[in-house]
Amino acid sequence: MELLYEGKAKRIYKTDTPNELHVQYKDDVTAGNGEKHDIMEGKGRLNNEISSLIFEYLHDFGIESHFIKKLSDTEQLVRSMKIIPLEVVVRNVAAGSITKRLPFESGQPLNKPLVEFFYKDDALGDPLITDAHVKALNIASDVEIAALKTKALKINEALIELMDKMNLQLVDFKIEFGKDDQGIITLADEISPDTCRLWDKDTKENFDKDVYRKSTGNLLDAYEAFYKKLKGAVL
Ligand code: C5P
Repeated sequence: MELLYEGKAKRIYKTDTPNELHVQYKDDVTAGNGEKHDIMEGKGRLNNEISSLIFEYLHDFGIESHFIKKLSDTEQLVRSMKIIPLEVVVRNVAAGSITKRLPFESGQPLNKPLVEFFYKDDALGDPLITDAHVKALNIASDVEIAALKTKALKINEALIELMDKMNLQLVDFKIEFGKDDQGIITLADEISPDTCRLWDKDTKENFDKDVYRKSTGNLLDAYEAFYKKLKGAVL
């Protein structure tokens, strides 16, 4: 198969069917825009399994995504999308970059879920941008910006309900959207412990990539434990 794109955590291949792509989850783990990098055998499998279960759960919740089906331990079949170059971050609790930018303490609950847009550009360091920047860069119109926020908040509600069943707090997460062949804004990319902050409600133990970013434990053990909880919650 023809490789179309290789990112830090996934490879995207063309398939024989138009509008369908093959996604392969890699064992690479990166942090700090690639400054920290390791290969952990089994990480691609875990994120593929987790992301597939979450996309299926969201589908049952009435939220469509690019996900069609899981093909193997590390591969998914997805609908091809024209990716919107934004990282859409939803925060319920302050952690990570917002605590460096604004006077929030890590762990401080936010009054209501906050949606932020970051411009996807490694060379620029994925800067935080405003709605006005999104329009100035011709990335999305007012109506599309509103749709991105509404969809992101609905995904947040669905994920909070799921994490509640695992006694986990959904601190924040990053999602990406694309436009399908009908021009409909649709959830794409992945949702996994690489792209979320997930804290045990009681102990505050992390089940996400912060374990690796902060070197506080074994990433594979944390992801495996999360996957086990997730299977218990969705099956
Ligand atoms: O770094 P920051 O606090 O802005 O991250 C917010 C959320 O978005 C975290 O859950 C983080 O894992 C996720 N994120 C991501 N990919 C990035 C940046 C952030 O998945 N490039």
